[in-house]
Amino acid sequence: MNPILIAPSILSADFGRLADEIRAVDAAGADWIHVDVMDGRFVPNISFGPVVIEAVRKATAKPLNVHLMVVEPELMLDDFIKAGADHVIVQAEPSSTIHLHRLLSRIKEQGKKAGVALNPATPPSSLDYVLHLCDIVLVMTVNPGFGGQQFLPEILPKIQAVKAMAASRGLEPRIEIDGGINARTIASAVQAGADALVAGSAIFGTLDYAQAIAGLREACGPFGATPVGAEAHG
Ligand code: DX5
Ligand code: ZN
Repeated sequence: MNPILIAPSILSADFGRLADEIRAVDAAGADWIHVDVMDGRFVPNISFGPVVIEAVRKATAKPLNVHLMVVEPELMLDDFIKAGADHVIVQAEPSSTIHLHRLLSRIKEQGKKAGVALNPATPPSSLDYVLHLCDIVLVMTVNPGFGGQQFLPEILPKIQAVKAMAASRGLEPRIEIDGGINARTIASAVQAGADALVAGSAIFGTLDYAQAIAGLREACGPFGATPVGAEAHG
């Protein structure tokens, strides 16, 4: 198994000092920077759009792992890519996009990594005909919309199911987990098959980001070792 990757979610950063916050988690050992885009329609919260992503891009060379929790992501896809997204993750639910296959193909055609996010109630079978297009599968362990919610342990079997589905097809997408990850919950997610972990409040809610990231890696045991030559930009 690959060493795990830690992706701080800037939703929990201090937006008044966003560039400094990003530089701080970058220096503290973040592997990816997770950027939550919310439109107030797909989820009951509004966060930020392409212009903010452009500013984030200027503050770090680490891969920007952009999670689109929006209705009709196809309408803004090119803007997010132009703004600097390296990974574009779209929700599997038809209330977000009715053309998931087309959207993933468009992301890949533009040379970016494509991902699909599954809400807690969404079954792994929604990946059936698109898994081969996924560089990343993002399994939500909270209902999307807000940081600081409690991890849903009933989702652990879904992580195993996605891992098994990928293995049975000879595929190795990154399996990323999002929501309620902290030093107490991370090990169960990694044991179930996760290898990229989003953490918002468990990092930005502390005073020492390097210690928080190291603590998350440590809580994973041998899988938590710092990745050798962490993935290059993109
Ligand atoms: C939730 C977002 C998450 C959120 C995670 O809708 O997709 O990325 O920032 O925050 P924590 O780690 O605090 O649960
Ligand atoms: Zn997210």
